[in-house]
Amino acid sequence: MTITIERATLQTPKARPAARGRLEGKVAIVVGGGQTPGDTIGNGRATAILFAREGARVLVVDRDRRSAEETEGMILSEGGVCRATRADATNEDDCRSVAEKCVAEFGQIDVLHNNVGIGSADNTVEELSEEAWDRIYDVNAKSVFLACKHCIPAMRAARSGVILNVSSIASVCASQVSAHLTAYKSSKAAINALTQGLAIANASYGIRVNAILPGLMNTPMAIESIADRLQIDKAVLVRARDAMVPLGAKMGTAWDVAHAALFLASEEAKFITGALLPVDGGQSSRIG
Ligand SMILES: NC(=O)c1ccc[n+]([C@@H]2O[C@H](COP(=O)([O-])OP(=O)(O)OC[C@H]3O[C@@H](n4cnc5c(N)ncnc54)[C@H](O)[C@@H]3O)[C@@H](O)[C@H]2O)c1
Repeated sequence: MTITIERATLQTPKARPAARGRLEGKVAIVVGGGQTPGDTIGNGRATAILFAREGARVLVVDRDRRSAEETEGMILSEGGVCRATRADATNEDDCRSVAEKCVAEFGQIDVLHNNVGIGSADNTVEELSEEAWDRIYDVNAKSVFLACKHCIPAMRAARSGVILNVSSIASVCASQVSAHLTAYKSSKAAINALTQGLAIANASYGIRVNAILPGLMNTPMAIESIADRLQIDKAVLVRARDAMVPLGAKMGTAWDVAHAALFLASEEAKFITGALLPVDGGQSSRIG
C-alpha cells in the first residue's frame, strides 16, 4: 500500500499570530473584588487580576473603597485596564448604579462575577439570631439577585453575556461543621437554584449563567477570619484544613477559583450553562 503525505502537511507552519487574551475585548464586573486583609490573595481579587491579564477591562466593586482601589492599583501596575468603585451589593440603588457606571465607562457588560459572601455570626439553628440569618442571606443571596437584575438588561440587549456566581461546596454536602453553617449553607444553595433558573431563563438571549463551588481555599477570608474568630493559631488551622482535602492534602488557592472563572467566562465554555462547578480538590466527592 502506498501512503501519500499531502504536501501541505510537510510545509513549515506559518508564524502564529500574537496570542490574544482569552477575554480580549470583554468588559467584566467583579462584585467583591477587594479582599479581607491577610497573607494570601482573596478569590475576588485574584479573579479580577486574571480577567485583566486575559484582556478584559474590569470594574472592581466593593463596599470597602480602599480595598477595591488596591485591586485597581495592582491591575494598573501590570498594564491592565480597571476602574474601582464603592458599592454595597445588598443595596438596589448601588447595584443599579454599578451597571450604569459600567456601561457609561466601558460601553458594555460582558461578564458579571458575583463573589461577595460572608459567614460571620452563623450558627446552629437553635443558636442563630434572626439578624445574622437576614444579614448572611442579604450578602450571599440578595446581592446575586440585585446584581443580575441590573446587569441582565444590558446583556439581553447585546444578546450575549456571562454570569458567574460564587457559591460553595457547603451548598451541596454536609459534615459535622455544617451544623454551624445554617444560613451560609442554605444561602449558597439559594445561589445554585438562582443560577439554574437564570441559566434557563436567559439561554435564548445567549447569556450563560454558571456557579463556582469552592471547597477549602487558603484565603484570608477563610484563614485569618476563622483563626481570629476561634482564637486559634493560623498554622494549626491551615494544617487541619489541608488534611481534609483529598487531592494532595492541600487547600486550593484563590488562583484555582480565578482559573475556573476564567474558563467559564471564556469562549471555551460557550456550551456550558447552568453548571455548578466544584473547585475543591475532590472534597465534595468523598464519602466518609
Ligand atoms: N475561602 C474559602 O475557603 C471559600 C470557600 C467556599 C466559598 N467561598 C466563597 O468565596 C467568596 C469570597 O472569597 P474571597 O476570598 O474573595 O473573600 P474576601 O472576603 O477576601 O473578599 C470579598 C470581598 O467582598 C466584599 N464585600 C462583602 N460584602 C459586600 C457587600 N455587601 N457589598 C460589596 N462588597 C462586599 C468585602 O469587602 C471583600 O473585599 C465568598 O462568596 C465565599 O463564600 C470561599
